[in-house]
Amino acid sequence: MNAIEQIHELREQLAQLRQERTKEGRLPTVGFVPTMGYLHEGHASLMRAAKEQCDIVVLSIFVNPIQFGPNEDLDKYPRDAERDLALAERLGVDLVFLPTVDTMYPSPTKTKVNVKEVTTLLCGARRPGHFDGVTTVVSKLFNIVQPDYAFFGMKDAQQVAVIQQMVEDLNFPVTIVPCPIIREEDGLALSSRNVYLSEQQRQEALVLSQSLFQVDTWMQSGEVTTVSELRARIVQHIETSPQADIDYVEILSFPQLTELDASTSLHAHRGQAIIALAVRFGTTRLIDNRIL
Ligand code: PAF
Repeated sequence: MNAIEQIHELREQLAQLRQERTKEGRLPTVGFVPTMGYLHEGHASLMRAAKEQCDIVVLSIFVNPIQFGPNEDLDKYPRDAERDLALAERLGVDLVFLPTVDTMYPSPTKTKVNVKEVTTLLCGARRPGHFDGVTTVVSKLFNIVQPDYAFFGMKDAQQVAVIQQMVEDLNFPVTIVPCPIIREEDGLALSSRNVYLSEQQRQEALVLSQSLFQVDTWMQSGEVTTVSELRARIVQHIETSPQADIDYVEILSFPQLTELDASTSLHAHRGQAIIALAVRFGTTRLIDNRIL
């Protein structure tokens, strides 16, 4: 499968596909899966969902420099375009957009898309400018591809909330489709960054998913009843891993991402709260979450 590097080529090929797949005057729907490559089963699930729901599927692979901070892993971010293209082809993706940094940012970008409030906590508070980089590149990609549906993984739940807000505020004619977190058999949420983990760190990283899965047991047994008790219990579980360095453990409303009164009963927030975790193992920062 050939990757398309130029914006005009992507537009031409997409226009042609739209024409070819128009049936009895009905325009085909376009599903878009934006990624930074090094694709895994989590991305595959997004492509499958897009394939199921849409007539044309476009995948983008672009390691977006403006969403990385100065001390983050831009240079060592894992890449394997050949393997990614083979997977996209196997899954029946129609077009793969693989632009260079010069194609996306021919001159230093003077326009940034900034979503307020939902970006100021969780990863937004720890990674200044990160979400401006995400919303700027996603806006550009939406303008280039003009999809009807765009598919995002819930592992980056804050990203989903931020993009949803941006789409509403800026009237992008696209429906955001959040897709479930995909996990290894032992529970570790799939991430391109998992390859950085040593064997020992990989084993210890299971404290993240374990603590999220244990929530039901702790609640049913009455061991935790309030937001603050649950938070403390999760922290305690994560700290059983010697290498875990907690960045945050937060329980917030979802999708608004506002603080919850720490003393309120967890039952009052069922289905409307998110437990969000970010934990470092060595230099690798992992995130995970679940809706309460
Ligand atoms: O989730 C990602 O991989 C990236 O943040 C995205 C949405 C492709 C923007 O660069």
